[in-house]
Amino acid sequence: MLELMSSADFSQGMLDAGKKRHPDLKFTLADALNLPFGADEFDVTTISFGLRNTNDVQKALAEALRVTKPGGRLVVVEFSHPTNKIFRKIYMNYLMGFLPKVARRFSSNPDAYIYLAQSIQAWPDQEQLAAKIEAAGWGSVAWQNFTFGIVAVHIAFKDKL
Ligand SMILES: C[S@@+](CC[C@H](N)C(=O)[O-])C[C@H]1O[C@@H](n2cnc3c(N)ncnc32)[C@H](O)[C@@H]1O
Repeated sequence: MLELMSSADFSQGMLDAGKKRHPDLKFTLADALNLPFGADEFDVTTISFGLRNTNDVQKALAEALRVTKPGGRLVVVEFSHPTNKIFRKIYMNYLMGFLPKVARRFSSNPDAYIYLAQSIQAWPDQEQLAAKIEAAGWGSVAWQNFTFGIVAVHIAFKDKL
């Protein structure tokens, strides 16, 4: 039988929090690099603020392709890079300077904020991520920037048979 919808994460705590908010949805403990789903199961495969955290981006994109139906779609929501040079400089100063300083002073887990800042800085820009998505076998890759490119949503399609 085909799945209608499934939310996946490899953190049971995240799944429990999701289930609390949306008891009507199905949640599955799953590794994005080795999904416990069959081939061609889903019309849409989406990952929000998670691809950057996987330790093999190409493998995660290939797994998403495997479980998506031919003609189906990928949607990746992720931090990206502001496109305006001046705004990018201000944002990077905030991200790499102000945010870690405030986190060290006030947060019980400053390392999480330092990791966040460093991982966003090291993450590919919009065009580079589009190239990675294409390299994993997806077609018609496009993206839309939000908040001047702080976040970008990439969309791609799996070829029809
Ligand atoms: C920043 S949180 C985002 C959570 C949620 N997707 C959202 O948008 O609110 C990143 C999540 O990615 C999950 N994650 C990282 N690598 C993963 C992997 N290989 N397989 C499954 N989940 C993974 C983490 O457990 C974490 O819950």
